[in-house]
Amino acid sequence: MNRLELGVCYYPEQWDRSLWREDAQRMAEMGLDWVRIAEFTWGLIEPERGVFHWDWLDEVIDILGEAGLRVMMSTPTAAPPKWLIDKHPEILPVGPDGRVRGFGSRRHYCFSSDVYLAEACRIATEYARRYGQNPYVHAWQIDNEYNDHDTVLSYSKTARDGFRRWLSDCYGSIEVLNDTWGTVFWGSLYSSFDQIELPNELVASPNPTHALDFARFSSDRVRLFNRAQVNVLRQYSPGRDITHNFMAGSFEFDHHAVAADLDIVGFDSYPLGNLLGSTLSEDEKRRYLRTGAPDYQGFHCDLYRSQGKGRMWVLEQQPGPVDWAEKNPSPVDGMVRLWTWAAYAHGAQAVMFFRWRQARFAQEQYHTALLRSDGSPDQAAVELAQVAAERENLPDAPRERAHVAILLDYESIWAADILPHDDTFPNARIIREWYAGLRTFGVDLDFVGPQDDLNEYILIVIPQSMIVSSELAAKLRGSGAKLLIGARAGSKTPDMHTPLNLAPGELADLTGVTVRRAESLPELAQETVRFQDGATYDFTGWREIIETNETVVASFCSAYRDGSPAIVRSDRAIYLAMIPRGPLLHTILSDALSWANIPVTDCEPDLRITRRGGLGFAFNFGATGLSLPSDGTQGYLVGGSEIPPYGVSIWQDR
Ligand code: GLA
Repeated sequence: MNRLELGVCYYPEQWDRSLWREDAQRMAEMGLDWVRIAEFTWGLIEPERGVFHWDWLDEVIDILGEAGLRVMMSTPTAAPPKWLIDKHPEILPVGPDGRVRGFGSRRHYCFSSDVYLAEACRIATEYARRYGQNPYVHAWQIDNEYNDHDTVLSYSKTARDGFRRWLSDCYGSIEVLNDTWGTVFWGSLYSSFDQIELPNELVASPNPTHALDFARFSSDRVRLFNRAQVNVLRQYSPGRDITHNFMAGSFEFDHHAVAADLDIVGFDSYPLGNLLGSTLSEDEKRRYLRTGAPDYQGFHCDLYRSQGKGRMWVLEQQPGPVDWAEKNPSPVDGMVRLWTWAAYAHGAQAVMFFRWRQARFAQEQYHTALLRSDGSPDQAAVELAQVAAERENLPDAPRERAHVAILLDYESIWAADILPHDDTFPNARIIREWYAGLRTFGVDLDFVGPQDDLNEYILIVIPQSMIVSSELAAKLRGSGAKLLIGARAGSKTPDMHTPLNLAPGELADLTGVTVRRAESLPELAQETVRFQDGATYDFTGWREIIETNETVVASFCSAYRDGSPAIVRSDRAIYLAMIPRGPLLHTILSDALSWANIPVTDCEPDLRITRRGGLGFAFNFGATGLSLPSDGTQGYLVGGSEIPPYGVSIWQDR
């Protein structure tokens, strides 16, 4: 399936039954293929334990199916009913401040609760038994946005007890735990697993391995919760695809691991909603206030497509102003169409819009939709119609494997948050900036995790992999790829210890460097990096004092260890002893792509170009028209070589 499929998130339970048939008819007429329903319906379906009211949902599914729409059914475990919470208040999550987060909104459950795990499987089984073989139900979404409202880390009693069991299974004896955690430090020794508390509400910073293990435990609980429902659906709804809707900028659990149990990796795309809280600069936020960052859709679609092994859907596409960001502007006309095509270009097989009709009551009244609350079509419906017509002009085009991969390791992101050594250490921002930097060269990218096959890539870039295991190092070594390795890589073992051979630990042989010291510099300490050709660039923040016998590409100009190596190249790897941004990053990426013989297309700041099979896509995020690079072989299917503001061009190489 490579034709762009379109869909919508629908909440019939919030509207009079008399509207349902007309809604379904209108959806079909708009060219929609899919309708996602029911992710928040537990309280309606089972108003008291064991009493089920299925009739309305049966009717909705029939109406949608009879209109030719394919139904994506959801398990409703993101919002457990009040009677269950009253019976088992221990289900509720607990924040890092130790306070219980109560009923009345959603996501009011703790992933560590075995009581809730059982209840979730019970209700999933009830839904799957009823609809698992329904001819109109073609796919399932489990729960809703596991990391929404920050409930992955829960500091409940059940989490503490589960964590203790997890540690006992992991270490076997408390002596091994003490050695691994280094609890001799500050005399924090334990004599039994029952003495171990959660790493929150402490006087000072927690033991780093303690904190990292709690992040690992919490991530394991998300995978366990998801996999338990996958197993239920496999049993009662065989042959239907199973997905979950991941979020943007969500690193609190190992998405690689959860994705491994899904058929399709879903993503909820809110380019404007996620802009003002992002790590972009003020100038970038001002420039892209009504378009979203040029690399937002690409980054997340490439990441989740890679995790989905090529199967990725946008399960919620922003249709207009959302209601949950600090400010909620409207996108300029044309952006919903551009975002939809950008998702497809980056591998989405389907794009579903959030939501069908704007709510008239409750928490999300200000969130726009395809229709206003009076049923009149809003701007997104206009742009959806354009996309629905345009997709008929496109041939089949599967997204192909890229030549360049970005290594993204969730454990390293957790580790850097736990042991930053720099209170503004850019952590996940580095990954986004390297991605954006490479995309300005028109380079298509895959993402890989430590557990993935790393062969067949020409260049693997490693922006922030603080933890590098011997297994990962062996895979990198064996891949034959050239490597661009960012600072701090390999500087901690999986136990969060400094490697015996110092950083970069397991990467020492590939890089040919030894890190003798790390320092972090404030913004005011503008220092420079000087290349052999004399070019100099400002930098600050993280800096490493390294020793090497390999080729020194650039050196530090500094009052401290002036002339020490800043960029070193061995035959397999370029190692960075600092964290580059802006012009320095641009030069480093350009040099690395040239070193690896990767073809590039220089893109203007507002222009993004990508490929999907034999199709080329160009997107203009700016307010002025642009001319596309052209060699006359492009046969345009949408737009042309002059791309208007907020425009889309799609071509097929003749
Ligand atoms: C998230 C949730 C939806 C809805 C939207 C609003 O993506 O999955 O239920 O709250 O946000 O943008």
